[in-house]
Amino acid sequence: MEAIFNRRSVRKYKDKPVEKEKVIKLLKAAMQAPSAGNQQPWEFIVVQEKDNLKELSKVSSFAKFVEDAAVAIVLLSDEERLKYPENWQQDMGAAAENILLEATDLGLGGVWLGVAPFEDREEHLKDMFLLNDNLRPYCVIALGYPVEGLGNKFIDRYDEKRVHFEKI
Ligand SMILES: Cc1cc2nc3c(=O)[nH]c(=O)nc-3n(C[C@H](O)[C@H](O)[C@H](O)COP(=O)(O)O)c2cc1C
Repeated sequence: MEAIFNRRSVRKYKDKPVEKEKVIKLLKAAMQAPSAGNQQPWEFIVVQEKDNLKELSKVSSFAKFVEDAAVAIVLLSDEERLKYPENWQQDMGAAAENILLEATDLGLGGVWLGVAPFEDREEHLKDMFLLNDNLRPYCVIALGYPVEGLGNKFIDRYDEKRVHFEKI
């Protein structure tokens, strides 16, 4: 699938909004992800206002560029929905990757910003959005239309030395 091979972390965005239909498609892609026992623990906060993007950019020292994103999606896990609590990060990771792949397919660029399990980053989001205790922040995905030349492109990472048939 083209989007898998061309997806890159995109951190420079045009000053152009992302259409509402595209944002909804990203969220639909996220919710199509597999999850343990189909528990679908996710909740999503869509952030588009400049002041909120700026505050979000302070979530970690690796998130400065979020203030220039057109939109950011905060991924949260609802602990009250967990039938298999040990699987929550895997479920959320699958949803996050689906967003990035759908974004690539829609001509957008995005990047995953790690939040869990770093307590200070989780706290920043809990304070910012006044989250109830059952909602645990997982990651933030910043998105926008990529600046020319800094968008998605194929980099070959296939390494046959890492592949083992039947035994290692
Ligand atoms: C769990 C996780 C956390 C990440 N956190 C950050 C981050 O905080 N800031 C950032 O700029 N990129 C972050 N990234 C993106 C990686 O740096 C990026 O995926 C990696 O360098 C490979 O580049 P590519 O995405 O273009 O293939 C994160 C990726 C993952 C999977």
